[in-house]
Amino acid sequence: MKLTPGFIRDQIRREHVITRDISYVAEQVEHWWANYQSCPSNHALKLQLISLLSTALRKSDKCYFENVGKNGVSAVCLIGVFQTDSYRLALIVHEALCELFHLRDIKYPYEHHKALFLKADGEKYRDWGNGAGEITPHSDDLYEAESTDLLALTVCRDKTSTPTQCFPAKTIIECLSDAELSRLANITAIFRSGKNVSLSKSCRRKLVQYDPIYGVQLYLDFRIDTDVGERMIATYPEDAEFLRKLRLKIPSWTPVYSASATGTFFIMANYKVLHARPVIQSSVASPANLHKINFHDTPRLLFRSKGPRHNLSLAQEYSEYLLP
Ligand SMILES: [Fe+2]
Repeated sequence: MKLTPGFIRDQIRREHVITRDISYVAEQVEHWWANYQSCPSNHALKLQLISLLSTALRKSDKCYFENVGKNGVSAVCLIGVFQTDSYRLALIVHEALCELFHLRDIKYPYEHHKALFLKADGEKYRDWGNGAGEITPHSDDLYEAESTDLLALTVCRDKTSTPTQCFPAKTIIECLSDAELSRLANITAIFRSGKNVSLSKSCRRKLVQYDPIYGVQLYLDFRIDTDVGERMIATYPEDAEFLRKLRLKIPSWTPVYSASATGTFFIMANYKVLHARPVIQSSVASPANLHKINFHDTPRLLFRSKGPRHNLSLAQEYSEYLLP
């Protein structure tokens, strides 16, 4: 497949981010939680909730389970899934919805990726999920050999009102000339791990790729890590200036915002949108307070999953046992 500017623009033009208010299920979720939270098994609770959501959700909302990353759906934001600020409820809702969206979460032994909240050294490492600073647009895990197709975040609480931003591929390529887009489609970069993992990994990739099912996908990471520096480095020195100029265009990109309310579930096709986070505005994020924060009283707590899609035929087979 020849990735001409015209072909890329035509593919990307159809991409959009969907927001669905599913607060009509919140009452059932809360009622279920009030009656069953004493169950000691998170796995049993997850299966119960998958069954509940499969029954309670409207067909017009369930149709997105199969479609994140294809058919023009770059990301889906579900708001109003639950209301109670409970980290266990948020985690179980998160895991149940990830299952329904066929996200197979990968736990790498060198990364604590599940809970996102301000940590004691968050002031030093600002461009980090557990820091307080701005995180510049990127896709996750481009240094890994295994594909991270999907990325999901669930808001347990966010007293700082800092929603996740995402930048659809359309907004990134719209500000490029045909010559620039053609160059983007023909260069490679080295992607490096940063503060998020406890070892050093890297992977070389093309920045624009085509998949017969998922279409045109972008592989970009504009983060600058406190320790290792730029996370995306041009493979050849003659392309470094081009990537530097691309970085300078970021302020002209138009983000789409998730929501920061408790009960928000945001799932993105990792190679269809870049995601980012503004500075967290919170007095708790000051150096004097950071060391006191723990998992239970942090003002902002999100749960995260990232990884490839489950084999859909297997997932569909499995869902027959859960759907009424
Ligand atoms: Fe990320």
